[in-house]
Amino acid sequence: MAEPHPITPLIRSRRSVKPTLMCPDPVPRELLEEILENANWAPTHGMTEPWRFQLFVSEGSRQRLAEALQQLYQAHTPEDQFRPEKFEKLGRNPLLAPVIITIGMHPDPTGKIPEIEEIAAVACAVQNMHLTAAAHGLGGFWSSPAVVYTDAMRSFLEMPEGDRCLGLFYLGWPQEGLELASRRGPVAQKSRWQ
Ligand SMILES: Cc1cc2nc3c(=O)[nH]c(=O)nc-3n(C[C@H](O)[C@H](O)[C@H](O)COP(=O)(O)O)c2cc1C
Repeated sequence: MAEPHPITPLIRSRRSVKPTLMCPDPVPRELLEEILENANWAPTHGMTEPWRFQLFVSEGSRQRLAEALQQLYQAHTPEDQFRPEKFEKLGRNPLLAPVIITIGMHPDPTGKIPEIEEIAAVACAVQNMHLTAAAHGLGGFWSSPAVVYTDAMRSFLEMPEGDRCLGLFYLGWPQEGLELASRRGPVAQKSRWQ
């Protein structure tokens, strides 16, 4: 078989790097701009380009995000399901990663494109971000605590009604010497040739 295309090792070595495994070193603005620009080149049915991002970079803005996540968790979690360690994590993670990008979806205003396709397009954009980050040695992590799907999160982000937050994308340099493994079951079990 021919040599694998250079994109193959990049796709297979991309890992989710949690904020606890990131260094606080800043990410250059040009790199963030490249990441966003590549996200913007995701496929989009009807050219609706439904991805919407907000960047939390300054310490003050990340602190504000951390407090909002904790407050939303407290307000939206039934008392018997409240986990202090989860509360603590929501307040800590945004301060560990130097950059958090909220992942937003703005659905087609004409309603022609089904929402599921708009969500799929946003996920493609996030993968573009993650692969671009990985190509530069930068770690990324898509986090989706239940609170991100609440109306209160949408309000916090000042997103219009109908838009949805699909998660938080943490970005940061992986700690030195980090080796992360991942695994997938055989693709043959998930595909059928006809
Ligand atoms: C839509 C989406 C949401 C995710 N949300 C979470 C999350 O809330 N918590 C988490 O630990 N990982 C989350 N992940 C990351 C997965 O855990 C991760 O991709 C998986 O463990 C495989 O690791 P890898 O990306 O390094 O191959 C999410 C991934 C996707 C695509």
